[in-house]
Amino acid sequence: MKKILVTGGLGFIGSHTVVELQNRGFQVVIIDNLSNSKRDVLDRITEITTVTPEFHQLDLRNRKDICTFFDKNKIAGVIHFAAYKAVGESVHQPLDYYENNITSLVYLLQEMKTRNIDNFIFSSSCTVYGQAEELPITEDAPVKPAESPYGNTKQIGEEIIAESCEAYGIKAIALRYFNPIGAHDSIKIGELPLGIPQNLIPYITQTAAGIRKELSIYGNDYPTPDGTAIRDYIHVVDLAKAHIAALERLLGNKNQTPFEFFNVGTGIGASVLEVVACFEKVSRQKLPYTIVERRTGDITAAYADTNKANKELDWKAEKTLEEALLSAWKWQQTQ
Ligand code: WQD
Repeated sequence: MKKILVTGGLGFIGSHTVVELQNRGFQVVIIDNLSNSKRDVLDRITEITTVTPEFHQLDLRNRKDICTFFDKNKIAGVIHFAAYKAVGESVHQPLDYYENNITSLVYLLQEMKTRNIDNFIFSSSCTVYGQAEELPITEDAPVKPAESPYGNTKQIGEEIIAESCEAYGIKAIALRYFNPIGAHDSIKIGELPLGIPQNLIPYITQTAAGIRKELSIYGNDYPTPDGTAIRDYIHVVDLAKAHIAALERLLGNKNQTPFEFFNVGTGIGASVLEVVACFEKVSRQKLPYTIVERRTGDITAAYADTNKANKELDWKAEKTLEEALLSAWKWQQTQ
């Protein structure tokens, strides 16, 4: 069995990807420093797949530890999730974000270079597009100046990878996620936001659970049909499966260029008010909310043109917004 390293594999998207990798017969080893995840996710993964992934609590910034890891493990490919990802926090702590997200990436790529590991999947984000001129957003849309240090670490990360692929013969794919939401069908793994949720769906589910008093909707004066901002909310299991498709493309040497990137979304935009209405339908309860002013840095609308991923990765999102919101609600009720 090919051994795949998943960094950040106990996190939200990482854990769902580990499950899908095991379902496809890959042997998985996880590196996670537990800065934004819980160790018992390992037990939940085992409950789902009956196979416990090998786990090392390491920090990718510790070169010695990482070097020792690669000395002891023959890795066929790397899926790299481990990074700080809170947009708002990154504005207040830019150096923490550059130090963690960029240093970790560089050290990982240096290990891959010296050991001739040449299959690399990078967790990127549609945030690289900023507010795109045209919708739906294709991969040809220009990368805009980042609106946050977090977004900048994704842009810089893609550039570092592209140049490393050219120089060292690494093959890599960046997946530009739209908005990942929901939880595994087993409801044993899901999103575990630390503190007050920054993202819409966990804030909605915590409000419905009575943990938060009401949802604040950040602005209803956008140039959209109902005035609230539009996003492309993709079920985390569909997103996880896109990583397997990308990995299999590289393992099968089907990539057309050393570095490729794909938009990973549903292709369907939903406004905040549409998400609220959909959540009320699946949860069968009213969601208290109030309209407040816009959040700095938010864009009006973003949803993916998924043709490239559909065609080249032979991958397509299958789950609906309703299914994703219902799974998020069921997951919340287990917390
Ligand atoms: C969605 C919509 C908010 C919370 C961010 C990152 C992106 C990725 C996903 C990491 C927006 C509105 C939200 C709330 C609200 N993260 N909202 N009230 O901002 O599209 O994307 O998270 O990779 O990189 O940029 O997601 O869930 O924060 O917001 O009205 O309490 O919901 O204004 O329109 P976003 P989000």
